[in-house]
Amino acid sequence: MESLIGLINRIQRACTVLGDYGGNNALPTLWESLPSVVVVGGQSSGKSSVLESIVGRDFLPRGSGIVTRRPLVLQLHRTEDGPDYAEFLHLPKKKFTDFALVRKEIQDETDRITGRSKQISPVPIHLSIYSRNVVNLTMIDLPGLTKIAVDGQPESIVGDIENMVRSYVEKENTIILAISPANQDIATSDAMKLAREVDPTGDRTFGVLTKLDLMDKGTNAIDVLEGHSYRLQRPWIGVVNRSQADINKSVDMIVARRREREYFASSPDYRHLASRMGSEYLGRVLSKHLEAVIKARIPSIQSLINKTITELEAELDRLGRPIASDAGGQLYTVLELCRAFDHVFKAYLDGGRPGGDRIY
Ligand code: GDP
Ligand code: NA
Ligand code: MG
Repeated sequence: MESLIGLINRIQRACTVLGDYGGNNALPTLWESLPSVVVVGGQSSGKSSVLESIVGRDFLPRGSGIVTRRPLVLQLHRTEDGPDYAEFLHLPKKKFTDFALVRKEIQDETDRITGRSKQISPVPIHLSIYSRNVVNLTMIDLPGLTKIAVDGQPESIVGDIENMVRSYVEKENTIILAISPANQDIATSDAMKLAREVDPTGDRTFGVLTKLDLMDKGTNAIDVLEGHSYRLQRPWIGVVNRSQADINKSVDMIVARRREREYFASSPDYRHLASRMGSEYLGRVLSKHLEAVIKARIPSIQSLINKTITELEAELDRLGRPIASDAGGQLYTVLELCRAFDHVFKAYLDGGRPGGDRIY
């Protein structure tokens, strides 16, 4: 049976493709209601590294300054066999098997909207990755929180980034993946500051501590990882990503995952926590949690889909059928899509197998 996460992915993609069809506001509301995992952290806290470790692939643009300038909606699909590949929503016919080209396309597509101005844009890029080494999971990567503008960027970019990140993490349906580096005081973490503000009880915040290997000798992060320093309802998970030297040497991601496992298993400080640490564990925990959150939200998502259907039918009646105009035609497509999703959800709730046709 198709995973619930896969189903929500399809609705997410459909909302993006058909989102801008004018007048009607049910679809943006539907998109807003979909649960997702959002990655938040200060610049260089290790956000890209964590995402790449979860994927087991090296594919994100790197560099100094503000590299991520548009939201990246990353949909991971677990496959049984075959080679890994990636697809962008804006290039539906193209399969990427070379992940260096995925990196380049993210950069180019960022520039296409922001015009190389180094400004940020809220228009998301959608990327799907198919691999045996991933769990079913959707994560949204956002620009890193920063305190100062660089590279000739206007001062306003600092506030613009914070507002964009805030607009995602404020939503009750957002699971916050708050990334903080272990070699800085947790009290100064941008990610935790924002997370505490929008999720004071810590019910939807997962704390990720990166750079454990870079802590001063004689110190450790046990107090944080065991939840004593900063209480969350969700677990704290420590990770060890590739260092800059590893990246320069192109250390393989799967080798890096193994090394990370060995780090925790052999560390006198963290050995007792080893089974709950590392990026593979993080991916599994997030996938399970996202699935549970979606399950709990099915009734409200379905009622929104039904509301969308009602609104679209009313709008089409106003326009009069048959529809010649583009706007009407697009409305009709959305309507068909919502009906299809309604059907799939019903089948899911009945415990049956949703229709095999791919809608989007
Ligand atoms: P981002 O700006 O938050 O996306 O951060 P990056 O993932 O690009 O990481 C910034 C730098 O920190 C890179 O040079 C990474 O190699 C390094 N880095 C990230 N995580 C770790 C880690 O756990 N250990 C070590 N040694 N370096 C890390
Ligand atoms: Na941070
Ligand atoms: Mg980054």
